[in-house]
Amino acid sequence: MDKKLNIDLQKTPKHVAIIMDGNGRWAKGKGMNRIFGHRNALTAVRECVKSASQVNVKAITLYAFSTENWNRPKLEVDALMSLLINSLKKELPEFMNQGVQVNSIGCLDSLPNKAQKVLKDVILETKNNKEIVLTFALSYGAREEIVNAIKNISKKVVNKELNLEKIDENTINNHLYTFNLPDVDLMIRTSGEQRISNFLLWQMAYAELYFTDVLWPDFRQEHFYDAIIEYQNRERRFGKTSEQITE
Ligand code: IPE
Ligand code: IPE
Ligand code: MG
Repeated sequence: MDKKLNIDLQKTPKHVAIIMDGNGRWAKGKGMNRIFGHRNALTAVRECVKSASQVNVKAITLYAFSTENWNRPKLEVDALMSLLINSLKKELPEFMNQGVQVNSIGCLDSLPNKAQKVLKDVILETKNNKEIVLTFALSYGAREEIVNAIKNISKKVVNKELNLEKIDENTINNHLYTFNLPDVDLMIRTSGEQRISNFLLWQMAYAELYFTDVLWPDFRQEHFYDAIIEYQNRERRFGKTSEQITE
């Protein structure tokens, strides 16, 4: 059955964020090392971007490396960084083909120089693509992002570029790494873990959360569409009553 037929294209989430989790366990299940799991994560990324684009999702944000992930063994961190560099290079023609605009959020200065360079190049090359914005969260932590925003806002207040009384939610939004993205409508986490792990805390304030036991390297179009269908079956009330929503 084509699950896409069950999706209402007028009501798809604008922004889907994904915590791609379970690579290590997937590899372990096959008697392999964790890095083998990371290497097999790319198919799932491709499927998600393609599937999202086909149902009018305009932005997809992938949690690829957290600020906390720096604490993993050096061998694994290095492998993840080389994978990032190689995959970005390799996928560029596909991004161009599919109209994917690449974007990134996080403390990018802490990435290896080579990764920063490839990332900058791919972002520049794809900047006029219009189908979907694909954001990679790299060396990303929501708390770091908020600290960074507060510092930048405070600087403006000290320099008298900004009036303290004028600070509102939009001011915060505009100083986050995601300033050019809409709020997250749907957050998917794979691998059975049910936590946020320092991802997009501000932006997910009213997101619908979807958890699946599927491990990231096994995640395919059908799983992505299951999440979209579940999202469409939820009633987003934003504090109102159900009657107010259906009226
Ligand atoms: C997600 O898979 C990838 C990253 C965090 C980079 P994990 O590496 O966390 O896999 P598990 O959770 O140990 O199975
Ligand atoms: C979250 O996964 C980060 C990414 C998917 C990049 P982790 O596997 O690092 O999260 P925890 O440690 O289970 O919370
Ligand atoms: Mg994990």
